Amino acid sequence: SMTSLTLTNGMTIDQIGFGVFQIPPTETVAPVRAAIEAGYRLIDTAQGYGNEEGVGQAVRESGVPRDELFITTKLTNSEHGRDKTLRAFDASMDKLGLDVLDLFLIHWPLPMYDQYVETWKAFEELHASGRVRAIGVSNFTKETLQRLFDETDTVPVLNQIELHPRFPQAELREFHAQHGIVTEAWSPIGQGKGLLDEPVLAEIAQAHGKTPAQVVLRWHVQLGIVAIPKSVNPERIAQNIQVFDFELSDDDMARIATLDTGERMGPDPATASFR
Ligand code: A2P
Repeated sequence: SMTSLTLTNGMTIDQIGFGVFQIPPTETVAPVRAAIEAGYRLIDTAQGYGNEEGVGQAVRESGVPRDELFITTKLTNSEHGRDKTLRAFDASMDKLGLDVLDLFLIHWPLPMYDQYVETWKAFEELHASGRVRAIGVSNFTKETLQRLFDETDTVPVLNQIELHPRFPQAELREFHAQHGIVTEAWSPIGQGKGLLDEPVLAEIAQAHGKTPAQVVLRWHVQLGIVAIPKSVNPERIAQNIQVFDFELSDDDMARIATLDTGERMGPDPATASFR
């Protein structure tokens, strides 16, 4: 059954959640409902995805008690700064139809790198108000995290970053661990392309009677991190959470480690510009 991690504030977070990146707004309700029915309780959306309303509708329709679900959304890049952050948070809560959010993340320390500290202080205000139970970040580097440590009073509970066997982020994971920050992986199965065709994954999958995607998601679980795979297909949605009935050996983990190419699929947060 599902395993979870403990955030520094005492909250627990499941190690497998459902990500809705790139699910079109008008097509969001069905996959989120399928995910909740398959057993997911952690749902990860973002203002920038445009599908918060669908997530909210699916949550209400599911009939699962609100306190059993863990809902994350993220501040979009155009809304940095104190006042815009507070307004954008209100807009998200309206779209989601929630009174309290479980986790609010800064989506990127961007667009300009000179506002995220002010934004983070607004996150601290939101947390103090009780409207969000935990605050964290996404796509932060050691350097951008260090500025938050130096200039504010709150360490993010979590940093959500690109992470998969081709880009395993060992150094940042170690830095997170030193600061009690949970690591959460976006594009955990490498966007379903290329990575899943690696012969090593097929071999390990066959040995365990699992699929390559399940092997990769189990690898995330055994690294001690959270992964939020996306799918719109009910079978794959269900498959991706069925990773708690087998275990990868040290040898399996070592073979998966050979897939590290050091190549990202998405933007590099240290150099990205969205302008
Ligand atoms: P689909 O939505 O058609 O299932 P990531 O979460 O790493 O970004 O990967 C998401 C991509 O991987 C989507 O294109 C999704 O397609 C595909 N995908 C999701 N689950 C699986 C799976 N179990 N096997 C193969 N592809 C998958």
